[in-house]
Amino acid sequence: MSVVRQRYLAEMGIPVWLLRANDEATTRPVEAGAEQPGGFDWDQLSAAVRECTRCGLHRGRTQTVFGVGRRDADLMIIGEAPGAEEDRQGEPFVGRAGKLLNAMLRAIGFAREEVYIANILKCRPPNNRDPQPSEAATCTPYLDRQIELIEPKAILALGRIAAQWLLQSDVAIGRLRGQVRQYGASGIPLVVTYHPAYLLRSPQAKAKSWQDLCLVKDIVSKSQ
Ligand code: URA
Repeated sequence: MSVVRQRYLAEMGIPVWLLRANDEATTRPVEAGAEQPGGFDWDQLSAAVRECTRCGLHRGRTQTVFGVGRRDADLMIIGEAPGAEEDRQGEPFVGRAGKLLNAMLRAIGFAREEVYIANILKCRPPNNRDPQPSEAATCTPYLDRQIELIEPKAILALGRIAAQWLLQSDVAIGRLRGQVRQYGASGIPLVVTYHPAYLLRSPQAKAKSWQDLCLVKDIVSKSQ
């Protein structure tokens, strides 16, 4: 477990269990008294997310945004958190950024329905503010169980927040992108690219994003 994550957990008063040997597989934040999603099936997991009150974000949500797509997808897309439109519709990436994401996926030969799309957070932060580390830590066990159930061949992390959280890194997105990285103990290949909302504001970054998309496509193709 990274020092950054340990610090967040310590600040939140969450006990951290570290393994003695060099195996990170079970070093996850554990909330006292809360049922953990570790062994849940899809129905149990989606029900747990729907009813979740583990952090303060549940108070402001219209509904949770669980994730959408094939549950045996080769490619999993992970964004930051639902925005206003996602909160209304209950589906990730349905606003303007979502339309661009669909086009990006099409450009590398994936229909939206073929991949699985989720976020670090399942509830919308107020005024679309950045997720707080405590919120991300509380919500990550849901995402981790989704990843375990899907077993994607590759993960595409969209934007700085998702990239830094998933990689437990403070490094700027410009340096995290462009290379194949790995997600946690699972070692699933992970590629970082710019968030589509950023690409809408900064279209000059699309060339670099295209390189990232080709990289992730290549991983999936080679895994067939
Ligand atoms: N931005 C995200 O990171 N996720 C969404 O679902 C929508 C916008």
